[in-house]
Amino acid sequence: MRKKIVAGNWKMNTTLSEGIELARQVNSLVENNPSDVTVVVAPPFIHLAEIRKLLTNVYLAAQNCASESRGAFTGEVSVEMIKSTGAQYVIIGHSERRSYFKEDNDTLFKKTKLAIDQELIPIFCCGEQLSEREAGKYFSTVKDQLDETIFKFDERQFRKIVIAYEPVWAIGTGVNATPQQAQEMHKFIRELIAKKFNESLAEDTTILYGGSCKPSNAKELFDNPDVDGGLIGGASLQAGDFMAIIQSF
Ligand code: PGA
Repeated sequence: MRKKIVAGNWKMNTTLSEGIELARQVNSLVENNPSDVTVVVAPPFIHLAEIRKLLTNVYLAAQNCASESRGAFTGEVSVEMIKSTGAQYVIIGHSERRSYFKEDNDTLFKKTKLAIDQELIPIFCCGEQLSEREAGKYFSTVKDQLDETIFKFDERQFRKIVIAYEPVWAIGTGVNATPQQAQEMHKFIRELIAKKFNESLAEDTTILYGGSCKPSNAKELFDNPDVDGGLIGGASLQAGDFMAIIQSF
């Protein structure tokens, strides 16, 4: 049985004290409203260890990790360091990392492998640009992104991965994919997994939707059979909105 997950990607927002307060609010809302949804927050790196101490019902993710395991890489944060804070997840391949920091498929493969080796669960992002959607190339773009990264793993490794489909044109724009657009892409990804590996692994893989998901549209997105939750940016910065999204299942 695949998991339902709602993960909040805080991006480069919140000071340490603001982050602690937000995490405290999210944790207490989740504690008081038990459900079968796995809730994850992804604060900035420097908050991880502090926030871990106060989470009881919420899991912790880093937003990124280094593509090398250790050494002379000034400013980088390794998966081992992330793991040592008590975090359980790491977001890899977010479109902002791909575009602003020029992270390519080889780099993302290395990061994902390191995460799996350290038993951190990768939340691996994929998704097409607006121009690719308009040109009708969205299926092939996503297929190429997966073929060149996580489809290189064996079944045992792939089983650890959570996928997030995030159409780039929907991220932070207020324009979400329609439920139909999300469902058809999630179904397509699941079919690719079935072809590449097998049907049961495809059924067991959690595929999240991300991109302008908010309380007003979460239910119609999550109601789709192949949408197993969300990776939430802007709306995860307000505990009440984030909780409303979690309760949309
Ligand atoms: P958004 O961001 O919800 O603000 O569109 C989603 C994401 O980037 O993960």
